[in-house]
Amino acid sequence: TETPLKQLFQEDFKIGAAVNPRTIVSQEALLARHFNSITAENEMKFASVHPEEEVYTFEEADLLAAFARKHGMALRGHTLVWHNQTTDWIFRDRKGDSVNREVLLERVRAHIHTVVGRYKGDIYAWDVVNEAIADEGAELLRSSRWLDIAGPDFIAKAFEFAHEADPDALLFYNDYNESHPQKRDKIYALVKSLLDRDIPIHGIGLQAHWNLYDPALEDIRAAIEKYASLGLQLQLTELDISVFRFDDKRTDLKEPTPDMLETQAERYEAVFRLLKEYRNEITAVTFWGAADDYTWLDDFPVRGRKNWPFLFDAEHRPKPAYDRIAAL
Ligand code: G3I
Repeated sequence: TETPLKQLFQEDFKIGAAVNPRTIVSQEALLARHFNSITAENEMKFASVHPEEEVYTFEEADLLAAFARKHGMALRGHTLVWHNQTTDWIFRDRKGDSVNREVLLERVRAHIHTVVGRYKGDIYAWDVVNEAIADEGAELLRSSRWLDIAGPDFIAKAFEFAHEADPDALLFYNDYNESHPQKRDKIYALVKSLLDRDIPIHGIGLQAHWNLYDPALEDIRAAIEKYASLGLQLQLTELDISVFRFDDKRTDLKEPTPDMLETQAERYEAVFRLLKEYRNEITAVTFWGAADDYTWLDDFPVRGRKNWPFLFDAEHRPKPAYDRIAAL
């Protein structure tokens, strides 16, 4: 039987997996053996825990927190402020009109205090704000209800509220396309502006939804270097390596080809070699899942198309990619 991932990288960084109430059952043995950190895939998001102003629903989130405790795993919190999976009520009054800035900030303060407060001592790091940067164009921030109603300051406020609620938690800004040069510079600019204003932020989360070819290793390195120059810790928060290029819309594959598995193995090896170089800056590497029997990529960007992005196959056996990084 293969060496646990968490043991292979114990001198380097934590090894995490995103989980949900189904996978903590179907993948329990694999998770317990290889991973020393978990993140809730959906269960701690705004819509999951706070469907109505007076109603909090923590059953599933609590289940995942209990799983982490049972196995002595670290727990990352995902996520407090996002444009997606957020219930509409927070932006509207009883008549359906938009609330004003004061009301929105008061509501998000209450949300953050309740959620962060509940998992104080369990969750060591929070993705406080997720995906707030615009992918394209000159605008720094993505357009969203948060931005429309509260102004750009909603980001700083979220970090302040989270810090009030748990002064010991590490607070992260988390985003994707994090290695894309233009977006990298915008993420850097945003985080630098927070630091310049003494806003409590401790890390940058690089989601790392990558594929066999993109992004280029040198762009990944440049992003790590640039973010690390801010003096914050870095974490890969949602790593997966799709076997398809983003614009590949094939749906006919029932199994990954040997070529795909080999290219994926080389890619994982190169990625982990690079990550190890930055072991002083990178404190955790979390996969967005654990094994190929379940991945969000089975539905994205092509609905119902199977993908095989992880180090373990659908039967939880190590893939060639596992062997290559184990040999590093
Ligand atoms: O719960 C409903 C279910 O009732 C319904 O029958 C079913 C029909 O589609 O949908 C279920 O909700 C789905 C939900 O996952 C729970 O499985 C949503 O449709 C689906 O959109 C949602 O996808 C999640 C996605 O975030 C939403 O944006 C993925 O599971 C989750 O992996 C993904 O995670 C995000 C990170 O939070 C942020 N970074 C990107 C990453 C990948 O998109």
